[in-house]
Amino acid sequence: MCPDSSSQIETVLQEERVFKPSPSAIAKSNIKGIEQYQQMVEAAKSDPENFWGEAALKELHWFKPFQSVLDWSNPPFAKWFEGGKTNVAYNCLDRHVKQGLGNKVAIIWEGEPGEVRRITYQELFEEVCRVSNALKEIGIRKGDLVALYMPMVPEAAMAMLACARIGAPHSVVFGGFSSEALRDRLNDGEAKAVITADGGFRKDKIVSLKNAVDAALVDGSCPSVKSVLVVRRTCADVSFFPGRDYWWHEIVPIQSIECPPEHMDSEDRLFVLYTSGSTGKPKGVVHTTSGYNLWAHLTFKWIFDVQKDDVYWCTADVGWITGHSYIVYGPLSNGTTTVMYEGVPRPSNPGAFWDVIQKHKINIFYTAPTAIRAFMKSGRSIPDKYDLTSLRLLGTVGEPINPEAWMWYREVIGANNCPIVDTWWQTETGGVMISPLPGAVATKPGSATLPLPGIEADVVNADGDPVGANQGGYLIVKRPWPGMMRTVHGNSQRFRESYWEYLKPINGNLVYFAGDGARRDDDGYFWIMGRVDDVINVSGHRLGTMEIESALVSHDSVAEAAVVGKPDDLKGESVVAFVSLESGKESSDELVAILKEHVSKEIGAIARPDDIRFTNALPKTRSGKIMRRLLRALASGEEVKGDTSTLEDRNVLDELRK
Ligand code: PRX
Repeated sequence: MCPDSSSQIETVLQEERVFKPSPSAIAKSNIKGIEQYQQMVEAAKSDPENFWGEAALKELHWFKPFQSVLDWSNPPFAKWFEGGKTNVAYNCLDRHVKQGLGNKVAIIWEGEPGEVRRITYQELFEEVCRVSNALKEIGIRKGDLVALYMPMVPEAAMAMLACARIGAPHSVVFGGFSSEALRDRLNDGEAKAVITADGGFRKDKIVSLKNAVDAALVDGSCPSVKSVLVVRRTCADVSFFPGRDYWWHEIVPIQSIECPPEHMDSEDRLFVLYTSGSTGKPKGVVHTTSGYNLWAHLTFKWIFDVQKDDVYWCTADVGWITGHSYIVYGPLSNGTTTVMYEGVPRPSNPGAFWDVIQKHKINIFYTAPTAIRAFMKSGRSIPDKYDLTSLRLLGTVGEPINPEAWMWYREVIGANNCPIVDTWWQTETGGVMISPLPGAVATKPGSATLPLPGIEADVVNADGDPVGANQGGYLIVKRPWPGMMRTVHGNSQRFRESYWEYLKPINGNLVYFAGDGARRDDDGYFWIMGRVDDVINVSGHRLGTMEIESALVSHDSVAEAAVVGKPDDLKGESVVAFVSLESGKESSDELVAILKEHVSKEIGAIARPDDIRFTNALPKTRSGKIMRRLLRALASGEEVKGDTSTLEDRNVLDELRK
């Protein structure tokens, strides 16, 4: 399959501003200066196996060392560090406690109504052992998939680590997804248990997580799920099903703190995390033990240039890959103090983030461009009220950042004093792939700059030929890397076709296609230009247009639907749906509201269309393919350019224009 021709990426003006690492920043950094970065790039390129093998031995603990670094004999199915035995929870907890870091704070948790918990490495280790034993008591065994549907409470991280400790892969489902979306994921992964909470606090409201789990499991609709472990958080009244449901506060505290970590094979599954693609239902991205651990660990260390006493805060939710790699596994594997925040900035508390930074003296702050744009809109007077001088480094992730927002972040939040790391990566890549290293790589506002050592990224055309400087093309990665996804759960063909066979092999080698367009400038810097497939990025959340279309069509008024993204100053993109109704159904404002609500119910509020437009017919080619290019132009109020000769019925376009 090829992206439709509308995805042709146009070149844009070059950004002239360059910010070099200051000599003092270079002196303090772990990777000092561009020469050291280049030496690492060279070392990784000339002997990748040696480079990754040395890193794995140095950075991780092994119960049994690996015999081979990489088996790429059956691409795109990679095997990293075969023969080795390790445990990710051991790497995140036990080894730090053994090295005397037991009293260091591992997690600072700031609850939405204002409570704070500081959990040391020793305490976290003990609690994770108790949770591990509790999971065993409710019947979870090595290899069983455990789903998490949690608010942002420390128990979410504890549950992930407990799963890792006993070798039960986890599948975290973002707490904002609906019970229907949860059910699909539970069934696809054949989850044996769900860990949830009675509810969570979100934007001054209570989210009824347990009720949603009950709805997902109703009448045996998820036959694999045998038990539900429930954290008490909001004290909301919830139903309780004895024999299936267990309260965390009843079953966990009575457990022993003795729980030897399972010795996991490198390629044993660590987790499955669902993400949207351009076709079909969300896919379960599979990550395995050692390669993922190494990648989360190394990238965290390199990019955030962690120092011993840093307090680090990533504002993501653990329901997304950013929360997995850069709230839980990356920071804890490095023995860093990681902050977890239950809230989100909201009109009733617009300074919430700055308050957390001031209160906990955060040194490293990692957030999404959407949040930065929203702060920018409400003006600098809000952050200016807070003491943000503890900040040393700022990061962004999830969507392209426009240079104005980048500059605002640098000037207003970083007081022109903090390097900005714009990190490009995906659920599939496990960790960051393209990003500046703060003590080495000069930054340009809006560019993710250069690939990390060992990542051979390029921009190519549909034939796999590298495009010239400043030409748009497909962003690819030419070699396997330790943190790469291993497969799509239950669908290895989809893994192969979506990522590794999407573009032609280059010099006979399969290349990984990320789904993004990009260009490189004269300095070789990467500028990510957004998705070139039917995936849209709304406030840094990745949504498949097909999923939203299926949700709309599942409503009995809707005959057909086509969903496209429309550029949005704040959210990056907004969701516009073109809908044709079943005969006899009338369009109305009320139906618009009903359909928006229907999508929220089917998927979750993040997928709720911003705009629904009714039409008698959708523009299609003679072979019946919806011409999204036309719809995208219409949604954005742009002129429809390019060839429309393949349209089956040209009147449709005139009608839509009206
Ligand atoms: O389009 C890219 C965009 O987010 C997509 C990955 O989404 P997801 O798997 O949900 O992971 C988000 C967090 C890593 C990418 O294909 N994206 C992510 N980071 C950037 C970005 N686009 C531009 N610049 C970034 N720094």
